[in-house]
Amino acid sequence: MNYKQSHQIDPLPYTSSMIVSIKHKNEISTHRYTGTILTDSYILTAVPYVDSLTDDLMISYKSEENLGKIDRVYIHPKWKDYQRYRKDNVALLRLSNPLNFTIHRQLSRARLSPRVRLLENTILQIIDWQRNTRVFLIANNDSLCNSFIDGDEQQFCVRFYESSQEDAVGKPIFQWMNHRWTQIGIVHLAIKYTDDSYIGVVTSLHHYYNWLESIVTTLNFSSLSIGTTANVIRNLPTTYECSVHSTSCGCSRENVQLSAARILGGEEAAPYSWSMVVSIHFNDSDEPSCTGSILTNSYVLTSARCVDGASETDLHVVAGMHNRLEDFPTIRYVQNIHIHPDWNRSDHTYRNDIALLYVFPPLPINGQGNPALTCVPHINPLTESVNYPSQGSQLVMVGWGSTEDDSHTMSETLQQVSIDVSNKNDPNCLKTVHDADKQFCAGRSSRSPCRGDLGGPIFQWKGTYWDQVGITSYGGQCDQIDSPAVFTRLAVYFNWMESVVNSSLTTTTPSPPPVPIVHECNKASTCGCGQTDVVLTPSRIVGGEDALDDSWPMIVSLRLNGSTDHLCGGTILSASFILTAAHCLRNISETYLTDLSIAAGMTNRSDPGRVQRNIDRIHVHPYYLGGPDDKRHDIALLHVDKPFVFESDLKLTKTCVHRLDSSLPVDQYPKNGTRLVIIGWGVIESGTKYIPEILQQAQVFNIDNEHSLCKKSIQDSELQFCAGLYEGGKDSCEGDSGGPIFQWTGQYWEQVGIVSYGTDCAHAYFPGVYTRLSYYYDWIQNILIRNGEHLESGTLSSSTMIRFTTSTDFIPHSNTISMYYFSKYHFHIVIYGLSLILFSLCYQ
Ligand code: ARG
Repeated sequence: MNYKQSHQIDPLPYTSSMIVSIKHKNEISTHRYTGTILTDSYILTAVPYVDSLTDDLMISYKSEENLGKIDRVYIHPKWKDYQRYRKDNVALLRLSNPLNFTIHRQLSRARLSPRVRLLENTILQIIDWQRNTRVFLIANNDSLCNSFIDGDEQQFCVRFYESSQEDAVGKPIFQWMNHRWTQIGIVHLAIKYTDDSYIGVVTSLHHYYNWLESIVTTLNFSSLSIGTTANVIRNLPTTYECSVHSTSCGCSRENVQLSAARILGGEEAAPYSWSMVVSIHFNDSDEPSCTGSILTNSYVLTSARCVDGASETDLHVVAGMHNRLEDFPTIRYVQNIHIHPDWNRSDHTYRNDIALLYVFPPLPINGQGNPALTCVPHINPLTESVNYPSQGSQLVMVGWGSTEDDSHTMSETLQQVSIDVSNKNDPNCLKTVHDADKQFCAGRSSRSPCRGDLGGPIFQWKGTYWDQVGITSYGGQCDQIDSPAVFTRLAVYFNWMESVVNSSLTTTTPSPPPVPIVHECNKASTCGCGQTDVVLTPSRIVGGEDALDDSWPMIVSLRLNGSTDHLCGGTILSASFILTAAHCLRNISETYLTDLSIAAGMTNRSDPGRVQRNIDRIHVHPYYLGGPDDKRHDIALLHVDKPFVFESDLKLTKTCVHRLDSSLPVDQYPKNGTRLVIIGWGVIESGTKYIPEILQQAQVFNIDNEHSLCKKSIQDSELQFCAGLYEGGKDSCEGDSGGPIFQWTGQYWEQVGIVSYGTDCAHAYFPGVYTRLSYYYDWIQNILIRNGEHLESGTLSSSTMIRFTTSTDFIPHSNTISMYYFSKYHFHIVIYGLSLILFSLCYQ
């Protein structure tokens, strides 16, 4: 048998798909230097080739196919050309245009590992685009090796027997680990040793992992663009605008986008929108075994069940990743495992299923959201933590788990799914859960936790950040148990987590100090803006609050018999029309119309300077029936006996009701999760008669049409929508009916609904129900036009809708932030202008 050949034939898969050639633009020679593909934008190679040729470098595949130009070369900062032995021989090349792996299917990425165990008997080989050559490890303490290498850590020696490999210098060396090739080195020197054998000195890549990672993951944002607009419009997901400025945790580099709950099953998360989530791997495997989250830069939170029985040395975590096959991973090995002391695997109750993993070196948390810290709840008093998250809350579970269609393969991309907290008394939950104070069930989703999701976080949206309320523990179809999934109630473990981390976790537990936010109105707007800007406390804790004088000049109070007795709310649509709810006029017939009046231009409802008008005509929606079981079409217009004169009465303004772009589904405006504001003089406490003197305002959220709480409250999702808080506590109430619910557009307040009804007020299980104005635009406009008036022009297009869900709030005195939003607005105007020009050119 031919000796040489025996070293070339290899039983293992051979792949040149990660190897590229590097050459100068004008070079004709077929193949010069070798590099490996690290990511779509980075090529790894040795220094000497690129050192002298930093301009006009190209890479190609198998010496023919041109793959693109290099626009930047990173040479290791310690590399010194004049050193005798030279070490730190590693360089990275950045491609001017990222490779497209879906087009270039023949290409693949080389895998690196931050820790490599070089064992005498592992299979090592040089792989290039023509062949692979087996090499043999020489121990570092071998005297021969020792005379060549400079620094044990940075280099190692190999021996090989392939004469054609005298040009081995610069070629990559791979080790067969966990069923795949991992690049462990680059040949630095090849020295002829005997007639047919060579000694190679190899740069140990794991020593340079952190340096490589720092370049590849922090500078490479070009290819990380988030889901396309087309996708956004097709599925109409809601964007959850995180306020990175006010929280140090719970926000990622990109905003979370969640499809409507009716899209059941899991969906791929928007790339880099859950940067607090990590995958946990055993034995250097690429497949995640569990999911976890980043509590501090040194601690990862997961379930005890995931790591019980594992040894530290077997575990590593991968952070900052969206697609585990495409992104360059930030890998950290686990140095210490802290399992909760009361965890007991053998009692099968999964109680206290929580663990913390200490990783080293610390994860790079740079405040730019990738990777990011998770927020953990700190509930006061602690006894309340057993009810957190509260039943019915809508949560989002995030993980790397397999999907049910294929429960054996882990998902390539991070998955998310909406899931609701079950009732504590739900029989299915009672059957499954072992300790309802420390665990909670969540169900109503066709995707329950599966292999790989274990230990992963489940989040609740807090208006400005995501709070991690639980850890995925057990249950769900994938566990072969016909039961809801069960989660560890994280709030219960706050003190334990702090004691392990041994420092205050308050930075990761924002109990948002209610900072009032100024909504700076564009005073040039013809509707939806007052003389005074609205200042709103976005807190979920504070109920309603007093509105500032002249900040809501479109609101009116409906009154009977000219008294100051407030009956309902309403808004000014035009010089002669008021918008209100049909049910406010239930006991008023046309003949007694003289009894009905409105008061406007006031914040204090007894303001002597208020503007009063009598109502001389009413237009109740023709389909309004007002039966106990049919509350649809709760909308009416009132005609005032004398028009308002906006030019002279600066305390009055029209409300904004715009036409919805016809391409958008009516029932998705406003969208799930949008922040909304309700205002009114309704009662402050349910069941009381006391109505406030000062106009009240409160922030609530749109609740998905398909959410069980909403579904049972509304009759038709095109005509009505729900708003409130899952945990209750904020709502409109008696006396607010007919009044508006607004969405802030960044420029003005758009009225999106009319207060219609609710069961009780501010109840956790019954959100407020609102008449959906986008459905009634034509009906309103036709009545106005018949009377020589009209609604303010403008359309709610998809771009404005996307803009609406973007936070345009800013904290007072913060110029930089307001500037940012200002320029964003101008961007929209420019785009709008350009499309108008294009449009007119096409139709000439
Ligand atoms: N129907 C009531 C009214 O006439 C108030 C409706 C709001 N209720 C609620 N829980 N959101 O004023």
